[in-house]
Amino acid sequence: MSIQQDNRFQAIISHAKEYGFVFPSSEIYDGLSAVYDYGPYGSELKKNIRDYWWKSMTQMHENIVGIDAAIFMHPTTWKASGHVDNFSDPMIDNRDSNKRYRVDHLLEAKADLLREKGDEGSKEADALLASMDTLLAAEDFAGLKQLLTDQKIVCSVSGTANWTDIRQFNLMFSTQLGSVAEDADTIYLRPETAQGIFVNFLNVQKTARMKIPFGIAQTGKAFRNEIVARQFIFRMREFEQMEMQFFFRPGTEGEWYKYWKESRLQWHLSMGIPAEKYRYHDHVKLAHYAKEACDIEYEFPFGFKEVEGIHSRSDFDLTQHQLFSKKKMQYFDNDIDEASGKPFGNYIPYVVETSIGLDRMFLLIMANAYEEEVIPKGDGTSDSRVVLHIPTKVAPVKLAILPLTKKDGLPELARDLMNECKPYFKCFYEEKDAIGKRYRRQDAIGTPFCVTIDHQTKEDQTVTIRYRDSMVQERVLISKIKDLVLEQIME
Ligand code: GAP
Repeated sequence: MSIQQDNRFQAIISHAKEYGFVFPSSEIYDGLSAVYDYGPYGSELKKNIRDYWWKSMTQMHENIVGIDAAIFMHPTTWKASGHVDNFSDPMIDNRDSNKRYRVDHLLEAKADLLREKGDEGSKEADALLASMDTLLAAEDFAGLKQLLTDQKIVCSVSGTANWTDIRQFNLMFSTQLGSVAEDADTIYLRPETAQGIFVNFLNVQKTARMKIPFGIAQTGKAFRNEIVARQFIFRMREFEQMEMQFFFRPGTEGEWYKYWKESRLQWHLSMGIPAEKYRYHDHVKLAHYAKEACDIEYEFPFGFKEVEGIHSRSDFDLTQHQLFSKKKMQYFDNDIDEASGKPFGNYIPYVVETSIGLDRMFLLIMANAYEEEVIPKGDGTSDSRVVLHIPTKVAPVKLAILPLTKKDGLPELARDLMNECKPYFKCFYEEKDAIGKRYRRQDAIGTPFCVTIDHQTKEDQTVTIRYRDSMVQERVLISKIKDLVLEQIME
């Protein structure tokens, strides 16, 4: 990360704390590493992103329904899904500092450093990451260790390259179910929400009378014992996922994979985030369940990183659950197969999954929105503001209602507008301080519209509406405000 980008990222983290978006968890006890709490504006923003995703999946697609499964699941779930045996990362310890690292993180950090050297460095970085992908795919740990040596990678604490061999560490958190230790069963905190969907596949299909192709969506917490959790809320141990499993007839996986790959990028762009900030990254090393997979990456201040994964999972999960539970996971398809002239009959459906981290999407929106803007005043001097250009659809507060003074009946008019609008969208009311100061506070939390009620309002029922991004102000009838904001939210 360049110094400029690093400063910008640190400024975003400070801003998130100062304005009530994200706090370090249990801060009065000096925090807990890589665990964060969402504050008043952060929890609104997070909820709005979740709602926007949920609506686009379950309301805009007639063939997708939602569920809300428990975090705890029967332990055999994780044996069947392959997570007990395969959900691990190659790690390495430094013998001098006793610090443990994920091998891919060490190599990625080296690639970031190389990129700072310009075009030549970028080429070296690409070659390094390509070698890493190949070695990871082959699980060639000796080769990976050699790559660390060739790249002269040292521990940031001890400064030495005194490394152990590379070993696999499972990422699942386990705990005990039951009060008496001897009788207690080991269970896991789910590392992905997807398995709650797979085990409920037939319950949902039958009760919601779904016909293939159809999807099941879910949002909720997931937990991973990440050894190196870092980059603020980018990689955490407790985080939230928004996942959708789409079930279809075997043989059509190519077209559904393509459909969801494109459709999910469109969802990101529908929030007005520039297309050049995104790219696809096709996987070389596939997760244990995947047949084809790609990431949608966004250019964070620390480089292009994954925000969402699209995975073609074949019938892997349902077949595994059928095997371990001994319960049929088949679907009966009575559509006629043109080739044979008979119904397709019983089969285990294939799946394409879309999986996005809610916290990562939150960070993406904050990083994209944050601007330290210099505003020329016309007399040669300038003013400045920090503004969050959060997409209107997901902004924590949509409308700030600001009476110019605390008297002359202006607060009463403002309160009337507040009562009219607040059932429809989140509003904020404030009487205190000069109007310029109040505008700046709203800019800093990303409120797209501010309305000022002044003495003219009493005469002609107009108010001043100020637009966050352009700072343009215009007079409109107070009776038009609610619809004007609603139109922007629905756009
Ligand atoms: N069910 C498939 C699955 O879980 P994944 O690529 O491991 O796939 C999906 O995770 C998404 O979850 C990622 O694209 C990322 O946005 C988010 N995610 C994964 N690990 C995370 C972590 N430790 N902290 C925050 N978000 C994470």
